[in-house]
Amino acid sequence: MRIYKAKDYYDMSRKAANIISAQIIMKPHCVLGLATGSTPIGTYKQLVEWYKKGDLDFSEVTTVNLDEYKGLPKDNEQSYYYFMNENLFSKVNIDKSRTFLPDGMEEDSETACRKYNEIIHSVGGVDLQLLGLGHNGHIGFNEPGIAFEKETHCITLSERTIKANMRFFMSEKDVPRQAYTMGIKTIMSAQKILVVVSGEDKADAVREAFFGSITPHVPASILQLHNDVTLVADEAALSKCTGI
Ligand code: GLP
Repeated sequence: MRIYKAKDYYDMSRKAANIISAQIIMKPHCVLGLATGSTPIGTYKQLVEWYKKGDLDFSEVTTVNLDEYKGLPKDNEQSYYYFMNENLFSKVNIDKSRTFLPDGMEEDSETACRKYNEIIHSVGGVDLQLLGLGHNGHIGFNEPGIAFEKETHCITLSERTIKANMRFFMSEKDVPRQAYTMGIKTIMSAQKILVVVSGEDKADAVREAFFGSITPHVPASILQLHNDVTLVADEAALSKCTGI
């Protein structure tokens, strides 16, 4: 695992965007696995800036997102579809027909997950997967206790995640209780993984995930077994990891 220590959120965002840019430049028709949450917003902003300067071309890129809330339509401002459109897809020259997220409006979980697995397989798997990190060590929506061998599945969100994500909704009761998420097996199948983390509130999660024991109680800890993981974290997020 490579660890890049960034000064702050802005520096973390630039470093992460540099890695994604390198991927797109080296392989213009690559498949990017994308993430939502507040952490990657600065990374997307930086990519958009470089696109506008003419340094990046998304025309051949395919994307598959990690997850989507179950029951939120695409035009709901809190849906991850809406998020991706707002932060990246509508701002660069990506072909929208090659941007994929799980279908949150598919009520039948089995169908939604099967279709999403088929999409991921049909695009040939992910070249570079971007990940944020939840406070409880979750990745995508793979909450603590999840089996490592799962592909896309429907998950019931933990109370901690509902509380953490409630800031984006009118009230706690508006946060969907379920989501479709790529499983750990899907995430681990990516050729390369890039994790972005910022802030002192994530320092425990970073220490446990990358320096603790590998356990389903800290889903991100499985990343220690992947052979091409880059962690870009700011000083605050790395503050509880000694010697870095
Ligand atoms: C959500 C997303 C995750 C994300 C996590 C952390 O639960 N499903 O993909 O990593 O939030 O979000 P944030 O970056 O806002 O702390």
